[in-house]
Amino acid sequence: AQTHYPTHLRGRIDLAMVQRLLADDLISIDRWYLCGPSDLVTTLREGLASEGVSTERMNIELFRGAGRSAPVNNVPNSKIAIRLSGTEHTVDLAAGETVLESALKNNIDAPYACLGGACGTCKARITTGAVSMEQNFALNSAEVEAGFVLTCQSHPTTPTVTVDYDS
Ligand code: FES
Repeated sequence: AQTHYPTHLRGRIDLAMVQRLLADDLISIDRWYLCGPSDLVTTLREGLASEGVSTERMNIELFRGAGRSAPVNNVPNSKIAIRLSGTEHTVDLAAGETVLESALKNNIDAPYACLGGACGTCKARITTGAVSMEQNFALNSAEVEAGFVLTCQSHPTTPTVTVDYDS
């Protein structure tokens, strides 16, 4: 059986289609939930932002594709102090690993969900040293300025880093 979709609903979901569907009234939407492959989600997110929708009103979930951006680890090996539920752990982190990966490898029960920089579950604060994030769709600029990072996206750029999941 052939399904007949109205012409204006056919094709790839892009900003133009969303604008058609919502009669161009993007601003009155309280919350956006963008979920799908990263191309689709990032394109829509940028498009909505350029139309004046605040990124704080967008929730994002990425379907993780095969491609992952190149690791941005600037230091070959680093030592990470991890504070979680009142306990301090010190672990070694190999080049290319994320802070979250090194925690999980060492049986530290660090929180995570999407592993794609989108949900914010893995958020923690860097209190010593520095990291660089592959991508960040979950933290706003005030949080980043306050030292929060997404540990699933974070690669140390200093030989020692302290990560606080409790703050
Ligand atoms: S686990 Fe979702 S942002 Fe890190």
